[in-house]
Amino acid sequence: MAEDPTLSSPARVLSGMRPTGKLHLGNYMGALANWVRLQDQYECYFFIADWHALTTDYADPSRIKINTLDVALDFLAAGLDPERSTIFIQSHVPQHAELHLLFSMITPLGWLERVPTYKEQQQNITGKDLSTYGFLGYPLLQAADILIYQPQFVPVGQDQVAHVELTREVARRFNSLYKTPVFPEPDALLTPSPKVPGTDGRKMSKSYGNTIGLSDSPALLGPKIASMSTNGQRIRQTDPGDPDLCPIGDLHKVFSAPELAEEMQAGCRTASIRCETCKSAVARSIVDLVSPIHEKRRELESRIDETWQMLRAQSAKAAARAEETMVSVREVFDLSRDLGSVRRYFDTSAEEMRNAHDLSRQSDWWNLEQDQRSKLLRDYWRHNLVSRDVALTQESNRVFTSLERELEEPFLSAKKKRVLVTTAREEEDGWHFRIPSKSYEVWTLLCWHGSFWLDDFVVPQKFYAQPFARARKLAKDKPIHLRVWKQGEDWKMEFADLPASEAAGDAVAAQALGPIDITELCSSYDPLG
Ligand code: TRP
Repeated sequence: MAEDPTLSSPARVLSGMRPTGKLHLGNYMGALANWVRLQDQYECYFFIADWHALTTDYADPSRIKINTLDVALDFLAAGLDPERSTIFIQSHVPQHAELHLLFSMITPLGWLERVPTYKEQQQNITGKDLSTYGFLGYPLLQAADILIYQPQFVPVGQDQVAHVELTREVARRFNSLYKTPVFPEPDALLTPSPKVPGTDGRKMSKSYGNTIGLSDSPALLGPKIASMSTNGQRIRQTDPGDPDLCPIGDLHKVFSAPELAEEMQAGCRTASIRCETCKSAVARSIVDLVSPIHEKRRELESRIDETWQMLRAQSAKAAARAEETMVSVREVFDLSRDLGSVRRYFDTSAEEMRNAHDLSRQSDWWNLEQDQRSKLLRDYWRHNLVSRDVALTQESNRVFTSLERELEEPFLSAKKKRVLVTTAREEEDGWHFRIPSKSYEVWTLLCWHGSFWLDDFVVPQKFYAQPFARARKLAKDKPIHLRVWKQGEDWKMEFADLPASEAAGDAVAAQALGPIDITELCSSYDPLG
C-alpha cells in the first residue's frame, strides 16, 4: 500500500457518487474503474450520496433507494470489494448531516454562491426549482462528506475540483477559527479519464440521454453502437475516413486492445474495413469488458438482501470512523457529550472559587501566611482553570486535595499533557519562578500582584522549548530560574541564568535565547485544550 511519508498507515481516500441509477460506461471509465484500482494502494471510503440526490430530486424521491441499490450493485459488480474498502450509504451515517450543519455556521454565503456549479446547474437544469437552501448547500454537504473522514485524497473528475477547493477552504477556516488542526486539507486526485463518447458523439452523460449502460445486455448494446454516426465520414464505404474524428474510433481507443484499435484505424484510413465491421469489433471489445461485470451483477441481484445488509454493516463501520471526528468537532463547539468541568459550575460549594481572579473577596485571604496563599492559588487554579481539561481525571474530583506533595508534581490533563502550575509574588523587577528541570508540555505561571490580584499565563512548550533545553543543560538538575516582567503593555519572560555571551554575535541564537513575548498568553487557557 502507498504510504504517506508523514503517516504510518496508508493514505486515506474518499469519494462518492450520486445515486443516478445504473451506471454507464462513462461513469465506469471515468471513475469506478479507477476506484477499483485505488483499493490496492489506499485505505478507501466509497459512498453513495443519496442526500445529494435529494438536493435536485426532492420533489419525487420515489426512486432514491432503487437508484442507490443500482449504483451499489454496479460498484460491487465492477470490483469494489467490501473486504478492502468501506462502501456505504451517506444517509446511513447521520454524522455527515451534523457536520454539515456545524459547517453551515462558519461558512460565508458568498463562498457557496461563488461555486461555479451552483449558477451553472441552476441555469442548465430546467424543470426543477433549484432556488433552495439545500441546493445552495450542496458543496458544503460534500465538504462534510469528505472532511469527516479526514482523508488525504479525493479521487474526482475535473468537474468536482471546485468542490474540493471549497472543502479545503472550509477546513482552513475551521482550523484557524478554533486554533485546532482537526481537518487536514485534502487534495483532489484527478482521475485520468479518457473521453468516452455517447451514442450521439457528445460526451457520454445521463443528461444527454446518450449513454451505454454498464449493465446493458449485448442485445441492447450492439444496435446502440451500430446506429452511431461516424461524424459524417465514409458515406460511401469506398471513401477513407479519419478515426480520430469518429466516435467509434474514440470507443476503440478506450475499450479495444491496442492492436485491434490500430488495425481498425488503418482499415478506416485506407477504406479497407467497413464501418459495420469496425462497429461490431468495438461492440465485442465492450462486451468482453462488461460480461464478467454482468455476471457478477446478476448473482448479486438474486440475493439483494445480502447486498443491503452489507451496505448497512459498512455504513455502521463508516459511522464509527465519522464519530471519532465528531467527538473532536463537538468539543470545539462546546457540545461534547460529557458534563466535564461544567459540573463544577453548578457546584455551589465551589462558589467562592468561581469569583474569577479577584481573590480579595475571599474573606480569610488577608490572614493567610505567604505559602498558604500560594497553595490556595494553585488550588484555585487546579479546580477552576486547569479543570476545564482535567475534569475527567479522578484526582480533580476531590475538592481541596492536599497540596503538600504537589509542589513539583505536574498536573496531568485529560489529554495527558503534563502541566506545571507555579506561582510567584511580585518583586521589583517582576516575578521570579523556579521551574523544576523536567519536561512539561504546558507551564502555568501565576503572577500575583501585591496580595490578591492575579495574572496568569498558560505557556505551551513551543514558546520555550529551545532556550529551556539550553537552560536545563546549564542548570544540571537544579531548578531553572525564570523571570517574567511587564514591559509597557507587553509581558516578557526570560531565563535569568542563560549567559548573555552565548548569544553574542549570533543574531539567530540571540533571538532564540532572548526575552520571549508572552503577552498573548495572558489569561488564555486554550493551550490546555
Ligand atoms: N458531487 C459529487 C458528484 O456529483 C458526488 C459527491 C458527493 C462526492 N459527496 C462527495 C464526491 C464527496 C467526492 C467526495 O460527482
